[in-house]
Amino acid sequence: MKGLFIVLEGPDGSGKSTMAQMIASYLEDKGHNIVFTREPGGTPIGEKLRDIILDNKNIEMADTTEALLYAAARAQLVAEKIKPLIEKGKTIISERFVYSSLVYQGIGRKLGVNNVKMINDFGLQGIKPDIVLFFDIDPEKALNRKIEINGGDRLEQEDISFHRSVFEGYKEIIKDYSEIKTINAERTKEEIFEEIKFIIDENLNKIFNSEKY
Ligand code: TMP
Repeated sequence: MKGLFIVLEGPDGSGKSTMAQMIASYLEDKGHNIVFTREPGGTPIGEKLRDIILDNKNIEMADTTEALLYAAARAQLVAEKIKPLIEKGKTIISERFVYSSLVYQGIGRKLGVNNVKMINDFGLQGIKPDIVLFFDIDPEKALNRKIEINGGDRLEQEDISFHRSVFEGYKEIIKDYSEIKTINAERTKEEIFEEIKFIIDENLNKIFNSEKY
């Protein structure tokens, strides 16, 4: 069976981790072999870069450096895990991917979506997810939930206006990336998951039909 590459995107605290677990058990029951990844991180080198990027002490980090470090962590994840595992037919569920950089660095940090896309394309090796789920939830509500739990990392500590521009940024890039599906995430877990299952099944049918003919 061919694997899927599923990406979960959205504001900090939007419920991506909970849904990632629910998607994994749904697909495991269908016989998929699941690998979880997260960004930044997901590999030993990527996790070291994550510590540098998110460290609250690194206040002097230039926005360009931040964008390059995210791209570097992603390049390692693609080379070490995503590309070889997709080739082996595994199903990958990733919390965040290049879309986060396009909106957080491209729009939030005002580096420009095209510039950020360019530095990332180099490391992506043409890899593209089958499904990208965007969790559409008011960023303030989502963020407060997250900060209550863990106090907030360097990015989460940013002003709410930063998070608002990131949120608007997602809405902006959705027009150019047809693989992104918007999920109303201001509902119960069960309601959200029902919609996600529908999107996943639709994609699985598409793959099944294309393999058949
Ligand atoms: P996380 O809390 O979802 O693990 O993500 C860490 C933070 O990094 C989160 O605030 C979003 C941010 N981020 C970017 O700014 N650019 C990126 O490319 C990625 C993957 C995450």
